[in-house]
Amino acid sequence: MAQIVSTKPLSVAQREKLARFGDVACPPEGRRFSQAELFAALQDAVGLITFGTRVDETLLEQAPSLKVASTASVGYDHFDLAAMRRRHILGAHTPHVLDDTVADLGMALMLAVARRIVELDGYVRGGEWKKGDEEALYGVDVHHRTLGIVGMGRIGRALAKRAKFGFSMNILYHARSRHDDVEQAFGARYADLPDLLHESDFVVLLTPLTPDTENLMNEERFRRMKPSAIFINLSRGKTVDEDALVQALREGWIRGAGLDVYRQEPVPPDHPLLSLSNVVCVPHIGSATQATRTAMLDLAIDNLIAVLDGRTKDAYIVPELRDLAEEG
Ligand code: DGY
Repeated sequence: MAQIVSTKPLSVAQREKLARFGDVACPPEGRRFSQAELFAALQDAVGLITFGTRVDETLLEQAPSLKVASTASVGYDHFDLAAMRRRHILGAHTPHVLDDTVADLGMALMLAVARRIVELDGYVRGGEWKKGDEEALYGVDVHHRTLGIVGMGRIGRALAKRAKFGFSMNILYHARSRHDDVEQAFGARYADLPDLLHESDFVVLLTPLTPDTENLMNEERFRRMKPSAIFINLSRGKTVDEDALVQALREGWIRGAGLDVYRQEPVPPDHPLLSLSNVVCVPHIGSATQATRTAMLDLAIDNLIAVLDGRTKDAYIVPELRDLAEEG
């Protein structure tokens, strides 16, 4: 019976780091645990390293000794915080180490949609390139345009930096509160959400999924955007009403969209979004480079070790459960 369970395969070095807490169970490279395997492994576990697996009553009932769930992601909407609180289980996550990688993908999606990279790749490969310059293939500029960032945390700052200094963009942002550092560093202007949507050429959603942000982008808000604007979602799928997004894209309320996240993942192949040529879709890979995913898993392991060693101040405990850590 394992004391530490990881839903992701671990390297030998990572397993050795954890071995002093007892047996370590993880799936072999290229495989995942079935639910039955995971539940069986959890029976004696004090620590769980996870990546998107729902940590809720059903799972916690199978893990009566659990003290900490450590996710190798910055988002932790898969944590049932109320259930974890009831059982006094700490939750940790991995901010900071993925900021630049996610911001890079934000720029990549903006550029891909604006310059129609995927669509035109298909055009060349499909043998449709038969004459020279064709106006029908033109895209729109990214540089010197207005970028509206919704959710101004660490990733928002990394994106603003690229947009401002790499692409001379004008930055608007909307967040729960104003951030002087962002305004000073990037000349960014705070805007209410309706104003940001109305003024931006690119809108990038970076907000975490909470009850307040579920369906944040709905029909009314897509209708506020410019018909020439491009929408990018790097947050979570449930922040967007996808039916409204499909309608916005089909009916020209907006020009295009770049999506990393979907209400249902993996997104079903017959989803209407996938039939639209003005959408670029990637499979939730915001932080998915080898180096960054390794750094995230290493940080998740360090967080778990810090909690089990009683050094909770050295772990990135999710804000909603920090009071539990302080109680000890
Ligand atoms: C995160 O870290 O939250 C990324 O979206 C990967 O899930």
